[in-house]
Amino acid sequence: MTTTQEASKGERVADWLDGRLGIHTLGRKYLRKVFPDHWSFLLGEICLYSFVVLILTGVYLTLFFHPSMNEVTYHGSYVPLNGVRMSEAYASTLDISFDVRGGLLIRQLHHWAALIFVAAMLTHMMRHFFTGSFRKPRELNWLFGWTLLFLGLFEGLMGYSLPDDLLSGTGLRFVNGALLSVPIVGTYLSMFLFGGEFPGHDIVPRFYSLHVLLIPGVMAALVVLHLLLVVHHKHTQFAGPGRTERNVVGTPFMPVYLAKAGGFFFLVFGALTLVAGVAAINPVWVYGPFRPDQVSTGAQPDWYLGFAEGLVRVMPGWEITLWGHTLVLGVLIPVVVFPLLLVFIGVYPFLESRLTGDKREHHLLDRPRNRPTRTAIGAAWISLYLILLAGGGNDIVATRLHLSINTVTWTVRVAVFVLPAVVFVATRRICLGLQLRDRELVLHGRETGLIKRLPHGEYVEVHQPLDPARRHTLTAHERPGELMGGEADPDRVSLDRRRKTPSGQGPRSS
Ligand code: HEM
Ligand code: HEM
Repeated sequence: MTTTQEASKGERVADWLDGRLGIHTLGRKYLRKVFPDHWSFLLGEICLYSFVVLILTGVYLTLFFHPSMNEVTYHGSYVPLNGVRMSEAYASTLDISFDVRGGLLIRQLHHWAALIFVAAMLTHMMRHFFTGSFRKPRELNWLFGWTLLFLGLFEGLMGYSLPDDLLSGTGLRFVNGALLSVPIVGTYLSMFLFGGEFPGHDIVPRFYSLHVLLIPGVMAALVVLHLLLVVHHKHTQFAGPGRTERNVVGTPFMPVYLAKAGGFFFLVFGALTLVAGVAAINPVWVYGPFRPDQVSTGAQPDWYLGFAEGLVRVMPGWEITLWGHTLVLGVLIPVVVFPLLLVFIGVYPFLESRLTGDKREHHLLDRPRNRPTRTAIGAAWISLYLILLAGGGNDIVATRLHLSINTVTWTVRVAVFVLPAVVFVATRRICLGLQLRDRELVLHGRETGLIKRLPHGEYVEVHQPLDPARRHTLTAHERPGELMGGEADPDRVSLDRRRKTPSGQGPRSS
């Protein structure tokens, strides 16, 4: 029992820790940190929680997975493959699926979490793109995030190559083809990666070290840096009454945000587990072990790399010979365009600030319609990604829709150039139209549906003025120089973010 004078056990532990780690000062500074409330902030959290699920499930898989390409004869519980010769990696994946307790669930959870992780990263990225939160001072954090996406794509590729089944071997054959197309050093690169002629005996153990150690380590470090920078810069927020470039309006980290975030973690974990429990993914036993002389029909990479596959599938098979060297342009051009597509979105913040001359800090988010050119670029980029994804599944599209594969391939070839241009123009027009509608609303109010007849016989619809808060939200944006090289206002090059704000709002810097 404790008396009033005596500190409780909890307090004594906190005191002990404070003496060693200074947690009191840290806690005072950060536990009351203000977080703005908007559903789109949940996308970053989905990235974070699915990454945690990947690490937890990945560690479980390492306990049973054998990253070896040595040949063994399978005698496990899956009878159709009994007596078949296969690599140890494939045999251990079958064991995880059929003989390890909870193994299949964890494998499927790992795979589903990977799919959702990349989808969440792409959605989170585009949400930040469309609302302009990548602008100064967050360009570096945008680059950290972008690197996470880039590493995530390759981490996924390595992951689904590990089981050494027919599908993953076909994916590796694709990687080998891409390497071989690199001029001069292509053969050397392929021999180096595979430890000899494809498929060699080294690729699974090599990918394993990268997949479970190096890349997750780098990613975890980047996630920590990414989140530290979010805390350091504070959140951006959408414009609204009381919200300025100098404050953050929202709820404190402790207890409100922490409770919500904690609950949301379990929701994400639960939803992923539910999907993994009911929806089969990557049933490797159906494909069989990898054999270089076989390929399964309808072989597809995981969805996020489908656009790279699409680039190769729709590219004409051009080849030229220069100074005695054959250049396989049909593969080389896609291999160059694939990273460029990603690099474009990665360097976009720097391009935009250069083209608009806007070097100011921004903490209030844009409504996409108020930045028609940026929004149109983002929409065009997404349309290119999606059409290439369709190209990557041209065989599936052709068989499912009963079309000729040539028709599908040619449609994608034309659409790769036409669709982004059409989407760009249409999105810009839609944004400008929405701006006009906002202006109409602010000037004339909301249509009420009430028709009045005036004394001289004219019929008019009664408009109701918007409430001041909504009017503020609709008008709280500047008229930007929209990528036209407009000069930024020199008075506002750097905002004084240290100014104190009224109570209930967090100052921008603490
Ligand atoms: C493992 C992957 C990632 C994790 C765990 C993650 C997590 C988060 C979280 C929790 C936030 C704060 C909440 C929010 O604004 O949504 C955030 C903010 C941010 N993220 Fe990410 N993110 C990841 C990937 C990315 C990617 C791929 C990009 C873009 C290329 C990106 C760009 C940003 C930016 C610019 C912010 C700051 C926004 C602001 O202050 O309002 N992140 N991230
Ligand atoms: C961003 C993180 C990660 C992604 C996107 C990812 C993705 C994948 C994918 C798609 C697979 C194929 C799963 C299947 O068999 O259907 C896989 C397999 C595997 N992953 Fe990961 N993974 C990640 C992190 C990790 C981590 C941190 C570990 C270990 C510490 C790990 C360990 C494994 C192992 C051992 C396998 C092979 C077992 C198997 O395929 O059943 N992964 N990974």
